[in-house]
Amino acid sequence: MCIMAESNEKAVIATVIENTAIKQRFGRLTLLFEAEAAKSFSQVKPGQFAQIRLSGVGLPRTGIISNDIADIAHKQILLRRPFSFCDVTMDSRNKIRVMILYCVLGPGTLRMTTLGKGDKLSIIGPLGNGFSVPVGKKYALLVAGGMGAPPLMHLMGFLQANSPKMRVVVFAGAKSFEDFPFTVQVSNKNGHGVSGFTRFGIESYIATDDGSAGFRGFVTDCVRRWLRKNKPDTSEVIIYSCGPEAMLAETAKLAGERGIDCQVSMERMMACGIGICQSCAVECKLGDQGETEYKLCCKDGPVFDAREVVFERR
Ligand SMILES: Cc1cc2nc3c(=O)[nH]c(=O)nc-3n(C[C@H](O)[C@H](O)[C@H](O)COP(=O)(O)OP(=O)(O)OC[C@H]3O[C@@H](n4cnc5c(N)ncnc54)[C@H](O)[C@@H]3O)c2cc1C
Ligand code: FES
Repeated sequence: MCIMAESNEKAVIATVIENTAIKQRFGRLTLLFEAEAAKSFSQVKPGQFAQIRLSGVGLPRTGIISNDIADIAHKQILLRRPFSFCDVTMDSRNKIRVMILYCVLGPGTLRMTTLGKGDKLSIIGPLGNGFSVPVGKKYALLVAGGMGAPPLMHLMGFLQANSPKMRVVVFAGAKSFEDFPFTVQVSNKNGHGVSGFTRFGIESYIATDDGSAGFRGFVTDCVRRWLRKNKPDTSEVIIYSCGPEAMLAETAKLAGERGIDCQVSMERMMACGIGICQSCAVECKLGDQGETEYKLCCKDGPVFDAREVVFERR
């Protein structure tokens, strides 16, 4: 069913212009879209994603595959893999550059590490709905957990360009210093300063569960502390969040308790990415009587109003 779906959906070809290892498990891939392919990416919204075919891409030498994924590295990968964008820019010749941050977790992302300048990739996208910016908001709090950072980096650049009066504050959390998908410099004990975000000169904080960098504790505690200290009018605040589901659930809870609007970017395994296979269901509330319905992460999301999601507690 997915293979049929794929043939109906238009794939475009992108050229790799750079692929850099950031840290042991993280890489940054920059792709160039030209001509027709560029048109589809010219209106991309932060929070949207693309399905990338990695099945034809080679594996690295056995000796450099880390032990924790050595047993699955050679698995065949039939399906495309979903990735969001951390930056999208158009150059003067209407060519589009798309930057993707990736974490090596399995056979697909391992193959990404071998991509080099000039390689071609088949891509379907942009897909999904993306984040939206409601009118009347003066504060945007961006709450990222681990690999949830990329779409929020894209959103941050978008807000700076399109809502310059908005006060944007970034909170990035991870288990440990090593688990941030960007290099981190902390400028004080309170967790001030995240280099992946500060290139935009944005107020930003980091939190680690083990205290190896920034605030020790959950990133949501960092957000609570900021709200207590700054006391914004909560009707003027919007929270955007992306990361592990438990963190999204906690973010939704703190937003709900204070009546703050909150959009969460959900993650599900995605077989087709275009609304056909039903593999990416997200349980959502339907009215106030406890009824629920399933929406599709790839098509109705990945961004949802936090109030409507029934979070999976693991
Ligand atoms: C909308 C969306 C945007 C994403 N954006 C990014 C991004 O910007 N950068 C990035 O590195 N990754 C991103 N991901 C996750 C990425 O798609 C997976 O890490 C990737 O597909 C793993 O492929 P693999 O073959 O290397 O590993 P696999 O063998 O497929 O998976 C490795 C491990 O990760 C888990 N996993 C894989 N995909 C998902 C998923 N979608 N949800 C929950 N668990 C999963 C598997 O259960 C397994 O334990 C995104 C996912 C979604 C749905
Ligand atoms: S991934 Fe197939 S329906 Fe969402």
